[in-house]
Amino acid sequence: MAQPPENPLAKKLHIKTFGCQMNQYDSERMAEALAPEGYALTGDAAEADLVILNTCHIREKAAEKVYSELGRVRLAKERRRREGRDTLIAVAGCVAQAEGQEIMARAPAVDIVVGPQSYHRLAALVAEALASGKGVVATDFPAEDKFAHLPERSPGKRRPSAFVTVQEGCDKFCTFCVVPYTRGAEYSRAPSEIIEEAERLGAQGAREITLLGQNVNAYHGAGPNGSPWTLARLLRRLAQVPSIARLRYTTSHPLDMDEELISLFADEPKLMPYLHLPFQSGSDRILKAMNRRNTAADYEAVIAKVRKARPDIALSTDIIVGFPGETDRDFEATMALAARARLAQAFTFKYSARPGTPAAGFPDQVPEAAKHERLRALQSLIDGQRRAFDRAMIGRRLPVLFEGKGRKPGQIAGRSPYLQPVYVEGSEAHVGQIAPVDILAASPNSLNGVMKSGFEWREPVQAAE
Ligand code: 5AD
Ligand code: SF4
Repeated sequence: MAQPPENPLAKKLHIKTFGCQMNQYDSERMAEALAPEGYALTGDAAEADLVILNTCHIREKAAEKVYSELGRVRLAKERRRREGRDTLIAVAGCVAQAEGQEIMARAPAVDIVVGPQSYHRLAALVAEALASGKGVVATDFPAEDKFAHLPERSPGKRRPSAFVTVQEGCDKFCTFCVVPYTRGAEYSRAPSEIIEEAERLGAQGAREITLLGQNVNAYHGAGPNGSPWTLARLLRRLAQVPSIARLRYTTSHPLDMDEELISLFADEPKLMPYLHLPFQSGSDRILKAMNRRNTAADYEAVIAKVRKARPDIALSTDIIVGFPGETDRDFEATMALAARARLAQAFTFKYSARPGTPAAGFPDQVPEAAKHERLRALQSLIDGQRRAFDRAMIGRRLPVLFEGKGRKPGQIAGRSPYLQPVYVEGSEAHVGQIAPVDILAASPNSLNGVMKSGFEWREPVQAAE
């Protein structure tokens, strides 16, 4: 059979994303920004004309991954060059922001270095690199609003669960964290822009929207008449978008969990009962050294209020072990807080000294062996809690949003309100639907059940204000 002629203008783009959900969102928007230039996505880096590595700088391990990946991409570039084809390599994201020009010194095959606040200029940077044959670096924080310069979310079918960045950057300067340096000062997008994006995503098939921000609950967008919008107000407004059935937000800081936001867990049925609220350490001494500006008791007071508003809430957190100066006693306080918090999920990290952050220069860095031992003990506590939380679902009927294929043929996968992956037997026609599932079993990282098909579970739609 004759092959359709290849479009000579069509170019291939491969994006590899490291790190957090905001990077995933940024990667989607970069692909959409390059589509009008003729770039179509490919899963295969070896056949790409442009390879973008969207990088993470949060811990040393994440940052180092970029260089091993760059080694692989360079080999592909050399292979393609021998075949007479060129490949542009771009490093985007937080390593690009943190290291800038240095990346090119360490990895000369790189053509473009673009920070997270400059990727709306990507098409121009690609053109510049192609025309000049020289490396280009864009890591300043431009005065213009990146979101206003990005093309609208492109048409096409969406996955049932979508991200929308609503807030970026951070002014809190925890002493271990690179975010204030890589993502810059705290910035909130305008509510009108976010509502429009959510409506568009909903019209394209998204049923669930997760609002993203490094400090999402510090969101303070300016309404049309300049009136301030809190995250709670934004969520209430987004709940009125009929096609959107579920809302989530991440990541929050305990200091910014105000009463209005907490009460939404009781009042807004579309807001899912899941809260990711990092506490980092259970020791007040360490929290102070981290510049977290809250105590362990403050955190517990917040989660008590959240539980009162929504008793079935699934709580998730981030915890760092081995922060400089952390003693066995401090670590015991972390273990004790984790035990009292009854977590459904937790992300645990060994402290990693990051260049340019205050804690990297603190005395009393904790030896690797102690970090390792503490992480192991904490993870085993958390695993037990997570399993208990998952096992408590057995025998319950949960509304599951189906997102795609399962692990076996004939199986589909979705998420419970508590963000647990749920596997059932069923046809892919259910993808994008919310259906009731009777939970029969809990394995270490997922639930299995039986779909009660025949009707769709509809969360009540709020009346317009
Ligand atoms: N070392 C270890 N973990 C860190 N995190 C942030 N910076 C560091 C660091 N230097 C963790 C925090 C944060 C999560 C995203 O990553 O727990 O909440
Ligand atoms: Fe980093 Fe979060 Fe602290 Fe901001 S609040 S400095 S993003 S850990």
